[in-house]
Amino acid sequence: MSQKMNAIGYTKYLPISDAKSLFSFETELKTPQPHDLVVKVEAVSVNPVDIFTRRSQKTTLPEPKVIGYDACGTVEAVGTETSLFQKGDRVFYAGSYIRPGSDSEYQLVDERIVGHAPKSLTPKESAAMPLTSLTAWECLFEQLEIDFNAYQNNQSKSILIINGSGGVGSVATQLANLAGLQVIATAGNEKSKKWELEHGAKHVVDYHHDLIKQIHQLGFETVDYILDLKNLDAYWSIITKLIAPFGHIASITGSGKDMNFAPLKQKAVIFAWEWMFAKSYFETPNMITQHEILDKISNLLDEGKLKNTLTKSFTPINAENLRKATALVEDGHMIGKVTVSK
Ligand SMILES: NC(=O)c1ccc[n+]([C@@H]2O[C@H](COP(=O)([O-])OP(=O)(O)OC[C@H]3O[C@@H](n4cnc5c(N)ncnc54)[C@H](OP(=O)(O)O)[C@@H]3O)[C@@H](O)[C@H]2O)c1
Repeated sequence: MSQKMNAIGYTKYLPISDAKSLFSFETELKTPQPHDLVVKVEAVSVNPVDIFTRRSQKTTLPEPKVIGYDACGTVEAVGTETSLFQKGDRVFYAGSYIRPGSDSEYQLVDERIVGHAPKSLTPKESAAMPLTSLTAWECLFEQLEIDFNAYQNNQSKSILIINGSGGVGSVATQLANLAGLQVIATAGNEKSKKWELEHGAKHVVDYHHDLIKQIHQLGFETVDYILDLKNLDAYWSIITKLIAPFGHIASITGSGKDMNFAPLKQKAVIFAWEWMFAKSYFETPNMITQHEILDKISNLLDEGKLKNTLTKSFTPINAENLRKATALVEDGHMIGKVTVSK
């Protein structure tokens, strides 16, 4: 199968205020691989990874590159070895970092990293959720090794979430709270603070002031878990001081420096990186866990236990609206998520 479709992409890095930073073009939908679904895209969201990817483009590409790592759409066709979905199913997913993204009319995506979209949400609400939910879930329940089902045992445990109001933090605060943990989240202003308290945080601390002092004043000498969702280098010294003996730390942000792990040795602390794309990038045998996680997230949303995190949306899907959405994420103070839908 090979068909023409519209897509939005770039050939070189340009500031998002430039009309050519993201532009529409016609391209060809490739032939699906055996595990692929052909999805008609109805809504997409913008994440910091879109910005990072555009900024990393140092040369001019011969063909436009399509980014976009969150979508909700309908299955139009299925590959020869698929078994989880059928034509007509409404799905949501983040996709793979090494394949064309979701900013296109149709997308090919491996069914092992796709979930059934929540029945109670609109496409634009659903598209706000996959990348951040996968990241938050993998951080908490895989990398930090918290047991989602041990609500009673978890109640004595505390977690500090650095950046509780961004895309990932807005899901992580909710999931940690659902698992029974005492959630302390950072915020930089009253709006973020209010959002975090409405999304599972028990306490909110202001990152413009001394975090250690504020957390001690709340009655926590140390915390059992720390999740860095903003800037590991900037927060490393605070993290190493606040983490409890035998505590767990996970980070989703990169580090430009050599990390000093020495302060963690005496406390026997475990440190883990999370990269949401790792499973699909390396096609690991546990890749299908992303299908399972997204289906759990879908159920939690439909049961009303998890709130969708959409705060801003643009319509229709075109280059101009994607540039507007990207500019909001680039600003670095976005609460929740922004989507662009049909
Ligand atoms: N490894 C992975 O798999 C993975 C997955 C997703 C994202 N990421 C990375 O994780 C980071 C967060 O992404 P995101 O989409 O969740 O967030 P985001 O939406 O970009 O975060 C925006 C939030 O950051 C907060 N913030 C701004 N400056 C801060 C500071 N100095 N300290 C603490 N919080 C601050 C803002 O709160 P205020 O308005 O209150 O300042 C705002 O609500 C990005 O670097 C992204 O690339 C990695």
